[in-house]
Amino acid sequence: MAVRLPYSTCMTASHTLVSPSILAADFTAIGDAVRLAESSGGDWIHLDVMDGHFVPNLTFGPKMVSDIRRVTGLPLDTHLMIENPERYVAEYARAGSDHITFHIEACVHADRIVSMITECGKKPGISLVPSTPALAIEELLPHVFQVLVMTVNPGFGGQKLIPGCVEKVRTLDGLRRKLGLSFKIAVDGGINGETASTVRKAGADVLIAGSAVFGSEDPAREIELLKGYQIA
Ligand code: DX5
Ligand code: ZN
Repeated sequence: MAVRLPYSTCMTASHTLVSPSILAADFTAIGDAVRLAESSGGDWIHLDVMDGHFVPNLTFGPKMVSDIRRVTGLPLDTHLMIENPERYVAEYARAGSDHITFHIEACVHADRIVSMITECGKKPGISLVPSTPALAIEELLPHVFQVLVMTVNPGFGGQKLIPGCVEKVRTLDGLRRKLGLSFKIAVDGGINGETASTVRKAGADVLIAGSAVFGSEDPAREIELLKGYQIA
């Protein structure tokens, strides 16, 4: 078995965070999957909530979030791929989410929903599907903790990153500098050892990865690759 040296002695630092998505894990052993993500160096746990309307798939509701809350201290990064997100914000906050991200395409009053999340004591995120331009959320940027750029059409894990979405990450990074803001830029969909450096270079701070982490025989090594650690 390979011996892994501590990062501090053999690797360069990385500021990139990795948020493993449990969508790719075995739902019959979800506690084990969350613990594996944590012990492998995951920074957050990404929870994909799908309603069968906003996206053509269904996953789980707040009970899954509160059950996972009991097995990890990592921030729970809840990604609502649902219509009418305003109806469910309080419930996902109570369930123990730390970050609540919703889609700009799923609502009219996004500014109000950002405020609702903040008033619940949680960190608000706004997400964009591939066909939505970055400028659609410019007014919200001063008020959000993160922008989640979908790099595939949402609904399913295991898809290939759409290269055109990388330009949106660059645009958002440029806006962040121009406006002097500090929101995080997360990318979600098709992120793996091959695509990670492209999105990092474009300005992504948080890499969400499902199949790359849970499909790997060595999730810890995979997370190191996503973060861009280089063996010195
Ligand atoms: C897709 C979800 C993603 C998904 C990513 O709609 O939002 O979080 O889990 O899966 P991979 O990393 O397999 O593309
Ligand atoms: Zn997601």
